[in-house]
Amino acid sequence: MDRDALQLSREEMRSLGYRIVDLLVDHFADGERHSTGRSPGREELEDQLREALPEDGTDPHAVLDQVEQDVLPNTMRVDHPRFFGFVPSPNNFIGVLADALASGFNVFSGTWISGAAAAQVELVVIDWLRELCGLPDTAAGLFTSGGSMANVTGLAAARYAVLDDDTDGAVAYCSDQTHTSVDRALRLLGFSPDQLRRLPSDDQFRLDPTALTDAIAADRAEGRRPFCVIANAGTTNTGAVDPLPALADVTDAEDLWLHVDGAYGAPAVVCERGRERLTGLDRADSLTMDPHKWLFQPFEIGGVLVRDERHLRRAFRMGAEYLEDAVGEDDEVNFSGYGIQLTRSFRALKLWMTLKVFGRKHVAEAVRRGFERAEQAERLFRERPGWAVVTPAQMGILTFRCVPEGATEAEVDALNGRLAPAISEEGTAFVTKTTLDDRPVLRFCPINPRTTADDVRETVQALTDLARDHYSPGAPS
Ligand SMILES: Cc1ncc(COP(=O)(O)O)c(C=O)c1O
Repeated sequence: MDRDALQLSREEMRSLGYRIVDLLVDHFADGERHSTGRSPGREELEDQLREALPEDGTDPHAVLDQVEQDVLPNTMRVDHPRFFGFVPSPNNFIGVLADALASGFNVFSGTWISGAAAAQVELVVIDWLRELCGLPDTAAGLFTSGGSMANVTGLAAARYAVLDDDTDGAVAYCSDQTHTSVDRALRLLGFSPDQLRRLPSDDQFRLDPTALTDAIAADRAEGRRPFCVIANAGTTNTGAVDPLPALADVTDAEDLWLHVDGAYGAPAVVCERGRERLTGLDRADSLTMDPHKWLFQPFEIGGVLVRDERHLRRAFRMGAEYLEDAVGEDDEVNFSGYGIQLTRSFRALKLWMTLKVFGRKHVAEAVRRGFERAEQAERLFRERPGWAVVTPAQMGILTFRCVPEGATEAEVDALNGRLAPAISEEGTAFVTKTTLDDRPVLRFCPINPRTTADDVRETVQALTDLARDHYSPGAPS
């Protein structure tokens, strides 16, 4: 075979490809038999993986051996049924194969002329999401690398629509629970950190409309230019949903843009439980929702919808001589004109194939399970002495804390700080902690539809056992 053309023979491609398919099938079919993965230190990985740039080629099967032995086992399996940390990403096999097709055919999804059907598929899937969220048909959107980029895109539309891109004296508002990608987005868009007001959240970790109104009035009185409110539809910390209808009333009355960060939570509109929790989503001027979080897609696919397509298009319009052929007819959408990327992969394919293969019904059921597993964990912790629920299960997230009888606050904090790494090291499950009201709490996010009731029960039991091992009354903490 012509190695100078970077070619493999048909047989080589097949045997390597089949081996990779087998690896993936094992990963999906026997997921629960494997561990949740490892996160070794730098030194260990330097030893394993550091080498000089190879001058000569290696047998592809030997390279795959190394991927199997040294690379994949040394990553966390964020799609493992007992991975409950951060935001798990329980992808699905259809999405994985769709990604293989999208990169295999290397479909260019930036312009209609090079990827007409890809653009059409993206239009269709974006429209499905728009309908689920109840946004009007003036809305448009696109798939991005993730929620961070979706937030940048939505806020760029806000900057254009409300401020005509003049950031001077402008102010945006959000709660102190808002994801830091919003701070970064505004920074990238030319706002200084003091142009974002992170207002203290209420006792349920939500943005308070009264505090918001007061902050807007105070800024106006000082001659500043309020322009945007960023609301959460499912915070990363607790799953809290800000009071969207009341916040939309404020933004309507004050003539401000309402950007909703539903990167984590908004995909739950696919099911009845989610729709109930997300009332008011249809009032967003822009909305982030990430299929690589709770719509079971492999990385990377975030998404953003903008209520008025013209704001999105105008915020990103550009012309270049070498793209003149790519302009096309008016109804032929060039997605590169809706966001930051010109060269874009065919991300829409995986979500389109997933929704077609399983149907909304089964995807909705998969999301509903996440709600139920979190509620199951809440019930189990409430039944057990020595545990306290900090925020109830909402949008698939529970926060809780171990509070042994008689323990001081310092002992409780030290114990809870230790439990998350302890259960992960032990290997039963992967759980992370977070901080609420300046105190460490454990956080449990069981949105993987392959997580069973036993997985939840055994994890609660393992945490209880570990708490006993790690706490002895009166011991120095
Ligand atoms: C609420 C929220 N917004 C934004 C983001 C950033 O998304 P991404 O990591 O896909 O860039 C996250 C990530 O967890 C999130 O939970």
